[in-house]
Amino acid sequence: MNFADLARELDALRAGTIDAIAGAPDTAALQALEVDALGKKGALTAILRGIGGLPPEDRPRVGAVANTVRTAIESALAVRRTSLGDVELAARLARETVDVTLPGRPIRRGSLHPSIEAMTEIARIFEQFGFVVHESPEIEDDLTNFQMLNIPPDHPARDLWDTLYVDVPDRLLRTHTSPGQIRVMQAMKPPIRALLPGRCFRYESVDASHGFEFFQVEGLMVDEGTTLADLKGLLDQFAQAMFGSGKRTRFRPGYYPFTEPSVAFDVECLVCGGPGCPACGRSGWMTILGAGMVHPVVLQYGGLDPERYQGFAFGMGPERISMLKHGISDLRLFMENDVRFLESFR
Ligand code: PHE
Repeated sequence: MNFADLARELDALRAGTIDAIAGAPDTAALQALEVDALGKKGALTAILRGIGGLPPEDRPRVGAVANTVRTAIESALAVRRTSLGDVELAARLARETVDVTLPGRPIRRGSLHPSIEAMTEIARIFEQFGFVVHESPEIEDDLTNFQMLNIPPDHPARDLWDTLYVDVPDRLLRTHTSPGQIRVMQAMKPPIRALLPGRCFRYESVDASHGFEFFQVEGLMVDEGTTLADLKGLLDQFAQAMFGSGKRTRFRPGYYPFTEPSVAFDVECLVCGGPGCPACGRSGWMTILGAGMVHPVVLQYGGLDPERYQGFAFGMGPERISMLKHGISDLRLFMENDVRFLESFR
């Protein structure tokens, strides 16, 4: 090998590579050509390995030729890369063209679940009367769910609340929100005006008016000199706000171990307005909640002196309220999450 041979090889590499670059179909092919010609294990490096066999004065000359070859190939690569890039971009833009004249796809908007909706509406009303929303645990103990509410073990009233127990000693799923009364009384001093919405659970076979899982909204007011008249006035106001002003309401005697006296609260039938129809069992009235004056024993468990403080409590099912208000006849609809039902509330 002499200088002339090496210079010829270099020139052949330049010419061949530049031809190939001009014909490269895409940027990936260009990349491969670059590696083959100029890469660490490429043709240029291979040719320059012959430099060691040349007389010292020829070596810089070969180096100079090699540099011009490298520069020529690099600029050919750059030019071709730009034009191929333009072509590829144009192709992609054509492929991804959006037809802005096509009609849009409707976007389905979600909404609050009707149970949540009903609880929110109930809370808005009681907030106007100064009630504050509190939370209390879904997993309770027997003491708070029953005993402190004046329902001792083996008391026949336990049959009212068929209970689901969890796999931990002395833990159960609350059967009503009333244990929240105890927790609120233990946590704060009167005057108390608390609203406790939440999920409840009962060991119940499911039918049109019973679920094993449902919501309740509990209310509790405790202060000095609170009377049954306060309860009656408040609930009447609530019924007017919830079902429309002018609705007649009535109280009937009821029974709960944790209230004394206990009442059931009815509103005039929202379907027939009084004369009686199938929706109200021909009575003209619909029962919307249970309530009463907090039993002195319960106040004591709450850490309050029943000689000084009196209170009332009420508990209602938001699904039931919603059913009465919207004429829904089956409670199961609230738990099945059929979107056709859920969407009808929007
Ligand atoms: N906890 C009762 C129930 O589940 C409802 C209630 C609450 C009654 C507060 C009176 C006072 O049926």
